[in-house]
Amino acid sequence: MWSSLLAVLFLILASDVIGQESIRKPNIILVMVDDLGIGDVGCYGNNTIRTPNIDRLASEGVKLTQHIAAAPLCTPSRAAFMTGRYAVRSGMAGAGAVRVNLFLGGSGGLPPGETTFAKRLQQQGYTTGLVGKWHLGLSCEQRGDHCHHPNQHSFSFFYGLPLTFLNDCAPGMGTDILKHLQHTFQKISVLLMVGLFTLMCVRACGLIDINPWLSVALLLVSFLLIAMWYTVFGLLPRWNCIIMRDQEVVEQPMTLETLPHRLLTEAQNFIERNTDHPFLLFFSLAHVHTPLFNSPAFAGRSRHGRYGDDVEEMDWLVGELTKTVDSLGLANDTLMYFTSDHGGHIESSHPLIGQGGGWNGIFRGGKFMGGWEGGIRVPGIFRWPGRLAAGRVVDEPTSLMDLYPTLKHLAGDTQPERPLDGHNLMPLLEGKVTRSAHEFMFHYCGSHLHAARWHPPDSDSIFKVHFITPKFSPPGAVGCYDPGMCSCHGEHVTRHDPPLLYDLLRDPSESHPLGPETEPRYAEVLHRITEAMHTHQLSLVDKQPNQMTWDKILWRPWLQPCCGTFPFCGCKEDAR
Ligand SMILES: *[C@@H]1O[C@H](CO)[C@@H](O)[C@H](O)[C@H]1NC(C)=O
Ligand SMILES: *[C@@H]1O[C@H](CO)[C@@H](O)[C@H](O)[C@H]1NC(C)=O
Repeated sequence: MWSSLLAVLFLILASDVIGQESIRKPNIILVMVDDLGIGDVGCYGNNTIRTPNIDRLASEGVKLTQHIAAAPLCTPSRAAFMTGRYAVRSGMAGAGAVRVNLFLGGSGGLPPGETTFAKRLQQQGYTTGLVGKWHLGLSCEQRGDHCHHPNQHSFSFFYGLPLTFLNDCAPGMGTDILKHLQHTFQKISVLLMVGLFTLMCVRACGLIDINPWLSVALLLVSFLLIAMWYTVFGLLPRWNCIIMRDQEVVEQPMTLETLPHRLLTEAQNFIERNTDHPFLLFFSLAHVHTPLFNSPAFAGRSRHGRYGDDVEEMDWLVGELTKTVDSLGLANDTLMYFTSDHGGHIESSHPLIGQGGGWNGIFRGGKFMGGWEGGIRVPGIFRWPGRLAAGRVVDEPTSLMDLYPTLKHLAGDTQPERPLDGHNLMPLLEGKVTRSAHEFMFHYCGSHLHAARWHPPDSDSIFKVHFITPKFSPPGAVGCYDPGMCSCHGEHVTRHDPPLLYDLLRDPSESHPLGPETEPRYAEVLHRITEAMHTHQLSLVDKQPNQMTWDKILWRPWLQPCCGTFPFCGCKEDAR
């Protein structure tokens, strides 16, 4: 009798514990790599690169094979990720040539009125932190107003790069900012100097008599041009390559050698500080964007040059972070997520390092390229041993925008919401449903809608329709090698009428367009997708003003974050 009583008591206690466990809010760790291609990762089919730590997350959790970024470019993809809505809605999708923030002294950015998942979680009692890259703007009207800063968007802790990792940040790697304009400036200055020098020689030799005013004028113009170039571009690495801790600039320009380690340590410390409290950590890596790190422990170790070394170092960072979670006993209470902001930049290469961008496996296209799969299909891994079965693979369409509603759900937040473009992923991750809630997805290039996909409820097909595609150059190439990135509009794109149709289920590489003769549902597919696009476009009425305009993007001295004396700004972080 006693034993059955004890058993009952035990059952009551146990159910209580289980009950508590199910209401405990999980910790959330989101790891986002910059520019990583889906073909760069072992568990997505790469057998020559070593990513054991990412592969382990996948084998201990759920791997998504059709995880789609909302844009093939950093700023809009990240804005959509943060808000759970297409970037056009928050004004973070550019209509013209500028599509990302180029200067920390620009005024465009994620509008202060937008709601990020960090805000939702903070309201539910989470401690929120962002370590690494932000790239969604900084100030609006004056230096230090930090209207777009991560703190403003509810990350109570921030350590990292308010902009992004740029070639400008590494000596000898060239520039990513208005390259053509910089070169034009340089050429004109050189020409003027040469002209001036020749004139002076000619005059000194007494060959001809030249009006001295002409020489003075030329001298002045050259001086002005060089001064202009220097102010605008010569100080760029100092102005753009900085590290902030919360609102303070702690390093300018940043020291690359120690950066990977510092980012990791900050992320680990954040976790250690918050073990007794639900937390959100967004670990947003500077890897594997060019100029690429060249850490001694990884240099020359991979089979894919400096790029491969960088991927393997990134994998190591992921492993160290996972170790921290596991060794603190947090694994069962922590949802870990791994992804990339968009596909690899296949055109990127550099005389000093060779391959500079990622590999998108069997998928066509890459970064910058509108709706082509290679630019938007990215790794997506969820590990949560306490709740998700190990080794599950989900082939249904999912989006990076799904994180917002998923995290909101996990935090127990039931507040009403503006319409979101993402869906709660938990039913799919737990295997409670087999179909994705995404029937349609839209693929933007800047603010231009280039393509859309339809996953009909009655079929496994994934129909994808391209209305507009970027023009590759030189002709016959598989990317825009000249000028190194594809544009979204005007003469740089092809408009397809009739549009290009593919079924990704049968043709994931988008190589055989379907027609009425080869696809019985051809007319229906076009009709349904056009209709859905129309409904989607009608839902954009309340969109925010465009933040990615020249007017907002260009550098303003009064917005430039700076430690030390402006404009020469400089400081170095104390070793901790
Ligand atoms: C593995 O990744 C490297 C680096 O991007 C790439 O060059 C290589 O082609 C990939 N290999 C396979 C088999 O996908
Ligand atoms: C974590 O959860 C899994 C699955 O529920 C369980 O088998 C395991 O024992 C748990 N580990 C710890 C340390 O609680």
